[in-house]
Amino acid sequence: MRYLFMNKIVFATNNSHKLDEVRQIAGDRIQILSLSDIGCTADIPETGATLEDNALIKARYVSERYGLDCFADDTGLEVDALGGAPGVHSARYATDGHDAQANMRLLLSNLKDEHNRKARFRTVIALIRDGQEQMVDGVVEGEILTEPHGEGGFGYDPVFRPEGWQITFAQAAPEEKNAISHRGRATAKLFDILFPNS
Ligand code: IMP
Repeated sequence: MRYLFMNKIVFATNNSHKLDEVRQIAGDRIQILSLSDIGCTADIPETGATLEDNALIKARYVSERYGLDCFADDTGLEVDALGGAPGVHSARYATDGHDAQANMRLLLSNLKDEHNRKARFRTVIALIRDGQEQMVDGVVEGEILTEPHGEGGFGYDPVFRPEGWQITFAQAAPEEKNAISHRGRATAKLFDILFPNS
């Protein structure tokens, strides 16, 4: 099906990896605008206690200030042997900044000598359309390896191997990752809401 009248929606992020992933899934069904595309330079504070809270904070920020339809996501890596940590603190696990290398190093050191490596990525997406709030989520189960493998992806991808896979997310092609990833699954549910007949 061709989408002749392209709609627009804001994805409340400036993370280029996430924008690429979601735009790839969206195809030509809808134009995805980033925060910088709408002139929003704020670093929206993620002060919520849960992924749901943070996704809603970001979506409401855009909806209330710009009056645009929008969605926002929040993702956590939940490691069973660490009681679900780093979870909602995944971005700032090791330091205050988003230092992926430091985060992975801390994770591997906290799991040193641990046999139970089970973990999952969970993404929550909050959608605000015509003032109505809706929430979807997506989960991918897997395990944390003992050392990083691969150069692709971002964040914890080099140490996360999805269930049933022989490679990490960082070794996978973007389309392979999108097909099963937490954000891919949550985004598919988002597009089911946006395009129920496609
Ligand atoms: P965010 O809230 O979606 O930005 O995610 C929080 C943190 O989780 C990020 O800073 C990354 O460290 C990690 N993360 C989110 N999505 C992914 C992913 O697809 N692969 C690996 N790490 C991710």
